[in-house]
Order: sequence, then structure tokens, then C-alpha cells
Amino acid sequence: MSIPEIELTVYPDECDAFGHLNQASFLTLFERARWELLAQGPGMDVFSRNRTWPAVRRATIDYQAPAFPGDRLRFEIALLHLGHTSLSLRQSARRSTDDALIATAEFVFVCISAEGKPVPVPAEVGEFFGAGTDAQSGLRRIRVNGVSLAVQVEGDGPAILFVHGYPLDHTIWAAPMAHLDGWRRIAPDLRGFGASDAPDLGYSMATYAQDLGALLDTLGVSKVVICGLSMGGYVAFEFLRNWRDRVRALILMDTRALPDTLEGKRLRDQFAAEARETGAGEVAKREVPRLLSEGAPADMRERVRAMIAATPVAGIVGALGAMRDRPDSRPLLAELGEMPVLVIGGTEDAITPPEEIRHLAAAIPGAGLALIEGAGHLTPVERPEEVVAALRKFLTSLPPAKTTALR
Ligand code: MLT
Repeated sequence: MSIPEIELTVYPDECDAFGHLNQASFLTLFERARWELLAQGPGMDVFSRNRTWPAVRRATIDYQAPAFPGDRLRFEIALLHLGHTSLSLRQSARRSTDDALIATAEFVFVCISAEGKPVPVPAEVGEFFGAGTDAQSGLRRIRVNGVSLAVQVEGDGPAILFVHGYPLDHTIWAAPMAHLDGWRRIAPDLRGFGASDAPDLGYSMATYAQDLGALLDTLGVSKVVICGLSMGGYVAFEFLRNWRDRVRALILMDTRALPDTLEGKRLRDQFAAEARETGAGEVAKREVPRLLSEGAPADMRERVRAMIAATPVAGIVGALGAMRDRPDSRPLLAELGEMPVLVIGGTEDAITPPEEIRHLAAAIPGAGLALIEGAGHLTPVERPEEVVAALRKFLTSLPPAKTTALR
């Protein structure tokens, strides 16, 4: 559902002696825009119906340009973060006639009961802003950094985050999602892939990692084991660079720490141009033979082909640019210190061959290594049982989690 825009008029009594919309009046206008918006969505009484009230915990306004009596202002609103009992919204006000940006604002709300205790945000509010559960797929929709991500969440226990590779989606993790009992398994579609939003621009390893950080915040997860496959490993490295203290352990699957070579970068640009020209179906034709071993059965090939063919071209092009520009993660390896790390690869992997996987494991002090016999680049797809067994062995060896759930 797209979120409607609201238009409001600036009245003389909201302006100062110079005829400028007064700074304090912005608070009122932003608030009125929010209520108008709710009236067009779940209803102005959505909070009282749910016996809660959204108390403002923080308000930040950036004033950009003056507005005057009679101006019509267009208010846009985006959900930045949806927590269990809190939510953050970003709002902007533009003059309708010339599109001038008048002000932007961010508000953090905590839902409280009549006794002043934090209580859950009404589900209808999250759903209105594009967060909730998709009835058909059962995937949760969570809005982070202005995009809606599709996320599979299974089970209870300490959290493990699965990050897929290029140009795939969360379904490559079907086996561990189904079988790793005792863990809260979280497998998102990164922006641009699967059922997540695919904006035209704004792809980088930093953006993917920020999305994941915000996603974990929304799910109330403070510390996590990260398991990244190939490009998912590049994202895991970026996450580590930013939030090392949130990572309990690391699983690097069919991935590398090296950046692209000059020739590799040139190929990324060539593939991006081809994807734009010929579409995702042609990308699938090129990628399937690289991703799977020669022995992979026809139905598996077809599943992976269909997954890639359904990927938005914007996501493919965005990911190619993000991989091309990714930083060298080798300096991180020697510094992983006490962090438990498992490196997994496939003996038939043509993209990150076994020698490269052995090399990666050797560069990380204390890292474990599991080479899965007969698997190509997509080890959890080709050898699901062996991968689940390797994950389980590693996860049960971890020291107990000292979890502090975020609200
Ligand atoms: C992947 O599987 O994510 C990609 O093949 C990684 C890459 O091209 O570097």
C-alpha cells in the first residue's frame, strides 16, 4: 500500500511578526499531518481502540526554508523503525507550488498504556506503514531505511542471521531455516532481491549492512551469529566493521575477503550493462552454471534459474555496483581475535574454489573449516543436510549467549 501525502494550509496565526511560519508551529503541523494520515489509513482512533497512546519521546526538526500564510504544504511520512513498543517516523514538508523543501523532522514514539507503561505498537499501525506479515508468503515485512524488506523468521532462542548471495534470495537458506531448532533463525531478502523493495539507486555494502542492523533492532535482537554466503559474506564483513560488538560468531560460506580486481570491476560494469539491456532471465542463464556444480539435478537448476529470473534488474545492477566497490576485508581477518568463526565451502565451487576457502580459513586465527564434498557455490542448496550438520556442530560449540534484547 502506498502511503498518502497530506496537504495543509499555513494560516496567518501560525506565523511570526515577519510573516514566516513560526518554528513552534511546525510541531503542530507535523502532528496534524500524522493524524490526517492515520484518518486515511487505520483511523484516527487506532491508538485509543488499542488502549494505548503514542507518547513522543524525541522530536528533531530541521528548518530548511521559510513558508508564508496561504502556502499549501505537502507532508510526506516514512517509517524509519518499528520496534515492539516504539516507532520512529521521518516527515518532510514541501511547498506544493514550487516543491521547495521547507522542513524535515524525525519523531520517536513510545506506545504507553493509561498507567504510563510501554505497550506494543498496534499491529494495524505497522501494517499501515508497510510492516507486518504477508498473508500469502508468511514473510514478515519490515520497513528499514525507507525500504520494506521481506524477512523469514523462525523459531526461538539465540539469534542467527542468514545473508544470501547474489543474485538470490532468502530461500537458499530453506534447510537451516527448517531444521536449526533452538535458534531464532532470521533470513531477509536484501534490498533489491526476492520480495523486498528494489529502489533504483542507493546500493552499497554499507547500505545492506545498515538495513540488517535496523532489521535486528526492529526484531529486538542485540547480538547475533551472522552467516553470509558469498555476497552475503561481503555484507557480513561490512556489518562487522560497523557493529562488531553485536556479532557473537561468524560463519563465512563460499565467500572471500579480497576486493574485486581491476578486471573483476570491469566485468561487473559489463554485466550491469547486459542486465539492463537483456533483463534478469538472461542473467539467470549465465549465472546458474557458475553457481551450481555439474552434478546438480535439473529441478534444482530450474529453482535457482526461476529465483534469479524473478530478481528486479535494479537489484541486480545495484548489487553488481556494491560488489565492485566493496572494500578489502583482509585487514579484518587477523583481528577477529576471540570471535568464533567457521568457514564453509564446496569442493566443486567454481566461484570460490576450495583452495581459496582453505586460504580464507587459514588467515583467520582459530577458524574452523568445513569443505562439503560435491557441492558447488550454493552449498546450502546442493548439500542441505551436510550444511545443517556443520552449522549445528559449530553453533553448539559456542559459549552461552549473554543476550540483552532490545525493546
Ligand atoms: C555471489 O554468489 O554472491 C557472487 O557470486 C559473489 C561475487 O560475484 O563476488
